[in-house]
Amino acid sequence: MKLTVHPAASPLTGRVTPPGDKSVSHRAAIFGGLAEGTTHIEGFLEAEDTLATLAAMSSLGARVTRDGGRVRIDGGRLGAPSKPLDMGNSGTGMRLLTGALCGHPDLFGARVEVIGDASLSRRPMQRIIEPLGAMGARIESSDGHAPLVVEPRQLKPLDRELKVASAQVKSAILLAGLNAAGETRVVEPGVSRDHTERLLPAFGVAVDRAEGEARLRGPVRLKAARIKVPGDLSSAAFMIAAAALVPGSKISIGPVGVNPTRDGFLRILERMAPGAVERRATEDASAGAEPVAILDVTCPAQLVGSPIPAEWVPLAIDEFPLVMALAAAGQGETVISGAAELRVKESDRLAVMSRQLRRLGVDVEERPDGATVRGGRVSGGRVESEGDHRIAMSLAVLALVADGPVEIDGAEWIRTSYPAFAQDLESLGARLQWR
Ligand code: S3P
Repeated sequence: MKLTVHPAASPLTGRVTPPGDKSVSHRAAIFGGLAEGTTHIEGFLEAEDTLATLAAMSSLGARVTRDGGRVRIDGGRLGAPSKPLDMGNSGTGMRLLTGALCGHPDLFGARVEVIGDASLSRRPMQRIIEPLGAMGARIESSDGHAPLVVEPRQLKPLDRELKVASAQVKSAILLAGLNAAGETRVVEPGVSRDHTERLLPAFGVAVDRAEGEARLRGPVRLKAARIKVPGDLSSAAFMIAAAALVPGSKISIGPVGVNPTRDGFLRILERMAPGAVERRATEDASAGAEPVAILDVTCPAQLVGSPIPAEWVPLAIDEFPLVMALAAAGQGETVISGAAELRVKESDRLAVMSRQLRRLGVDVEERPDGATVRGGRVSGGRVESEGDHRIAMSLAVLALVADGPVEIDGAEWIRTSYPAFAQDLESLGARLQWR
């Protein structure tokens, strides 16, 4: 499908409630399926990625009922699924679920196939197959890629230092550790999102934490919980960026999760436009273990490019297509480095974003581990999501300040994480058309 975005004719104003957090929704679905008893989830993200994870838990024997974002899961007893678990486009779903299943005693003797779409089947799975294999897991792959076939069996614990900060790899190991007798410990070279460590205790699992390190002791079974999913900062970021770009705009968005291991985009924006975003406390200061806030965004007088510290990369890992879009419309140079991980996301985001920005006349220099974007005039034109939801939304936001309309092909991928994206942007005053 094609989404046409027209240049904004007036400031964006209003208030948006962002969709539920994708990372927390995946975890709530998986943990709820593993946990004995009835788990209630509020604010679950109703998007393709997280619904795929919920469907997988149901195929594994959990009883799932859903009314919008309210989900009830009767979990605790798993059984071999009768068909492959299809994780769609979701790396988080595939990696976390594989970790949770590979040592699950209810599945000993079963062969569980875990598949994904073409993009997911190109993404590296060796990064989980290797450490889970070191725990004793048996996982067949197609040369380190999905489809995966998991033969659950008894695991032993692992003490592992990761080479790349990755919440998905860390979480896969910790979830496998739930079924291994003894302590499993993961140490990371940098800070990655800690939703697994925050949410497991709500399901009765003790997690010991220190700087860059998480430990738990297995075997342990999860107990049902009541979970409130925070608003997704990664989705809210598109609305924040839109308001930061369109002159005169003033919007509020929230409540939204502001977990400090996830708020890199806010830090980057604060560098590019000091004071543009203010955090306001809400009565409900947290959603379960996650801090939340309302964000008030005022379009800054100027948006100035900046070098981005490499240690912030994992804190804003999903927001770099958007950061590149902001940089394109700002002044001066934005330098991204230490970000080679962007090449193994839903698309090669450094290559795809560089290519698509150039189609709008933007000056971008791509490097193996980053890119330099020089801000200036952005022209209208035709671009392509290349199958990546965040590329489509980043280009849509940039289009608000282009010289003419921008047509985005492959915009249906937005449904992966933020089905109401266009609607929310329209509610602030933007003009978009689907075709
Ligand atoms: C996620 C972790 C990140 C992020 C992804 C969600 C998670 O991946 O890109 O969208 O929920 O754990 P990595 O930690 O593997 O970089």
